[in-house]
Amino acid sequence: MATSLDADTRPIIPEDIARIVIAPKSYTDDATIYRAFKWLREHMPLGIAQVPGYDPLWIVTRHADIREIERNAKLFHNADHNPVLNDRASDAFTREITGGTTRLLSSLTYMDPPEHATYRMLTANWFLPGKISKLEEQIRVLARQSVDNLLSFDGECDFVRDFALHYPLRVIMTLFGVPPEDEPKMLKLTQEFFGVHDPEEQRPEMAADPVVAAKQWAASIEDFYVYFDKLSAQRREQPTDDLLSLIANSRINGAPIPRDEANGYYVAIATAGHDTTSSSTAGGLHGMMIYPENWAKVKADPGLIPGLVDEAIRWTSPVKHFMRNATADTQVRGMDIRSMERLMICYPSGNRDEDVFTDADRFDITRSPNPHIAFGFGPHMCLGQHLAKLEMRILFEELLPHLQSVELAGDPRLVETNFVGGYKALPIRFKKA
Ligand code: HEM
Repeated sequence: MATSLDADTRPIIPEDIARIVIAPKSYTDDATIYRAFKWLREHMPLGIAQVPGYDPLWIVTRHADIREIERNAKLFHNADHNPVLNDRASDAFTREITGGTTRLLSSLTYMDPPEHATYRMLTANWFLPGKISKLEEQIRVLARQSVDNLLSFDGECDFVRDFALHYPLRVIMTLFGVPPEDEPKMLKLTQEFFGVHDPEEQRPEMAADPVVAAKQWAASIEDFYVYFDKLSAQRREQPTDDLLSLIANSRINGAPIPRDEANGYYVAIATAGHDTTSSSTAGGLHGMMIYPENWAKVKADPGLIPGLVDEAIRWTSPVKHFMRNATADTQVRGMDIRSMERLMICYPSGNRDEDVFTDADRFDITRSPNPHIAFGFGPHMCLGQHLAKLEMRILFEELLPHLQSVELAGDPRLVETNFVGGYKALPIRFKKA
């Protein structure tokens, strides 16, 4: 639904800055995007972006405002409009194929109260820290295998392509119940799903289309559906103890979970469950290469690894935004937000907020406290956060003792996305311990 912001008395963000925050390409260059966020936090922490091709929207860059908005899921909905930012033409395409809504995927991020709580409850218990910690030994075996594989590269490799893409994929697919031979398919579909704006990830037959992002998003969801319909049916016939079985056999109001909602769950876990952790794992190593005092500290004291994990997640912020939609007239930071206006929640900016983090651009594994919002906040806060932190901790515990030193062997490359993503390449040279 198009909103028109009567912006006479409300702050309008200079168009060059607004374009930077909205454009997927800006996120391939940390200097560009973080300069724009810094400007906004300082001059217009809550301002209106008016960029041709997009409906007007608020850009939210301060940590406190992000928390205030996200904590109130009744006042700020995810699903009245698209929870992911698209241009007007792309949203029009999505409405065309869904028969009028932008809910192309029935995952938790496309739900509001009370539906959201009903569906989140199905797996909330499985993701609790106490339950997740029981998986530690199983995950450690996978970490050891991945580390052995890395060490076989004999001193030089692309840490992303040869390592960081695969370990989190292996962890989540193992717990989820996707057979190992299908992991390459899951990786490819995830890269297409999150990489809709990145020319290197676009399907050739769609690349020239003006709404390639929306078309590819829809096509990758369809391919996931085909895959998971089959696996889901198998798990209904023969339940096992994996996460996929739990979802496939769950019931909503006494009836089996509907197909769309089951697939929404599967797609969210099969994509968000590894792409994010790959980026933050690579970022953890990159941060230590740029700020080597951290390397020395964590090598001397492995007790600092949990701090390394949190800082890696803050510093990389693999989820760049989610959208919220005001359900009533309200105020945030003294600004009048009107009913049905949309807000872009910029997590990477909140995680560099000078009011909360000292020397915020610096990678510092001893940062304490580290109240980052890379996992979001409030009722939608990341379901997989404890798993993400556990698998990263185990990984660094297994990896660091085997490395004497590590250095950059080329320029890192980042995915072109304003939604979810991070490292595409991180060339390294390393000495084994
Ligand atoms: C939601 C970040 C790992 C599954 C989210 C949100 C963020 C996020 C920002 C939205 C929160 C909000 O709206 O307030 C991250 C980061 C990760 C990570 C930075 C890793 C470093 C994972 C993993 C899984 C996962 C490993 C699954 C195994 C989900 C799901 C949601 C979600 C299902 C939707 C929750 C809801 O709407 O109720 N995540 N995530 N994430 N994440 Fe993660």
